[in-house]
Amino acid sequence: MTARVLINIPPTAKRGDVIEIKTLVSHPMESGYRVGFNGALIPRDIIKLFVCTYNGEEIFRAELSPAIAANPLHRVLHGRNRERHDRLRMDRRQRLLGVGIRHHHGRMTWVRRLALVGLAPALTVAVLGAFATDIPMAERRSGYDLMGRETRAMQDDDNRQSRHVLGARRRGTVATRRRTCGQSCASCHGDAGASMKGVAARYPAIDAPSQRPIDLEQRINQCRTERQHAAPLAFESKELLALTAFVARQSRGEKIAVEEDARTRPFIAEGRDIFRRRQGQLNLSCAQCHDDNWGQKLAGAPIPQAHPTGYPLYRLEWQTLGSLQRRLRNCLVGMRAEPYPFGAPEYVALEFYLMFRARGLAMETPAVRP
Ligand code: HEC
Ligand code: HEC
Repeated sequence: MTARVLINIPPTAKRGDVIEIKTLVSHPMESGYRVGFNGALIPRDIIKLFVCTYNGEEIFRAELSPAIAANPLHRVLHGRNRERHDRLRMDRRQRLLGVGIRHHHGRMTWVRRLALVGLAPALTVAVLGAFATDIPMAERRSGYDLMGRETRAMQDDDNRQSRHVLGARRRGTVATRRRTCGQSCASCHGDAGASMKGVAARYPAIDAPSQRPIDLEQRINQCRTERQHAAPLAFESKELLALTAFVARQSRGEKIAVEEDARTRPFIAEGRDIFRRRQGQLNLSCAQCHDDNWGQKLAGAPIPQAHPTGYPLYRLEWQTLGSLQRRLRNCLVGMRAEPYPFGAPEYVALEFYLMFRARGLAMETPAVRP
């Protein structure tokens, strides 16, 4: 196995300039905390030393410890003149490593924990013998109920919602008025408060022409392509998230109304199958966590029942708005299962089942989650 190193240097530099050299090392890594199949710890295998030389002279050296990002990015500011020692400096690591560092500092997510500490076997043992049984209707609770007071307050007070949610609301409103081929969403649908009320609460729904289920994002894209003759918006694009949140917001407080009937039954069953199937390298099913162990703590955070009441929502961990598919993707990655591509029928089937499973609970879009 080999490492891949990217070195980024400005194409030209004048004498006396401070130049920035960035290096990024992608390499196979072992944290030293993982347990192998034989039960023994897999030895640590990380980069330990980083040395930078200029014309054979060492100008920078760093010893790397396990707390550094998996694929470390270094940024050295090197002034090639007599004041070199004053000007050679390294930014604080947090700023250097940007996104990657978050995995290692601050709150460790269960995704990380399962992977690093090998919590999964413990969890699997804990639930051995437990059957995936549906949560009784009367015991179903939104993830909101399990959140801390501060996070709940953030969701409750529209004006305290993060700037991302407020930004999305503005973008959503603007986007529904934007004309494409002479027609905006609003020119056909009028006042969304009336025309879109309750719509999100009954999606995914069966699309008549294809007889396949589509989710709200796909329904909106259908209007874009078929009615506005515009290109479909990409999943997780700001504009599609904003439009979906805008439409779904008109259903806040409405009861989820996805029902099982002759047409929807096979797709809901497909979603239920995926939910109950053990998958991924950890051999876990969604149901083991969300049906059998909800309310238990995993890496310090309570496991919710996985009701999709608030999507698209603002997740503190994402620091932005995200869709239900993104949430499902996160859980799949945590289970060490191969996530599906956005828009895959498996996601829509899961969404269908989850909305059916949450029927009767109130919509909260745009919600806030940890
Ligand atoms: C040219 C007119 C037109 C435009 C423009 C248009 N739509 Fe539609 N839209 C419709 C019609 C007609 C339907 C109902 C189709 C049906 O019943 O099969 C619909 C259905 C929908 C639905 C599903 C409603 C339900 O009850 O299931 C949503 C959501 C929606 N549109 C959102 C949007 C959004 C968001 C935009 C702008 C990006 C938009 N539409 C632009 C005509 C339009
Ligand atoms: C190892 C336990 C575990 C497994 C397995 C798991 N999840 Fe989760 N899931 C969580 C935890 C914990 C959260 C809460 C957020 C967090 O801390 O990541 C969560 C959050 C969710 C949410 C968001 C609920 C809300 O209130 O917004 C949904 C939906 C969800 N999971 C669905 C699934 C699906 C579908 C699967 C299977 C593909 C799955 N999960 C597998 C632990 C798990």
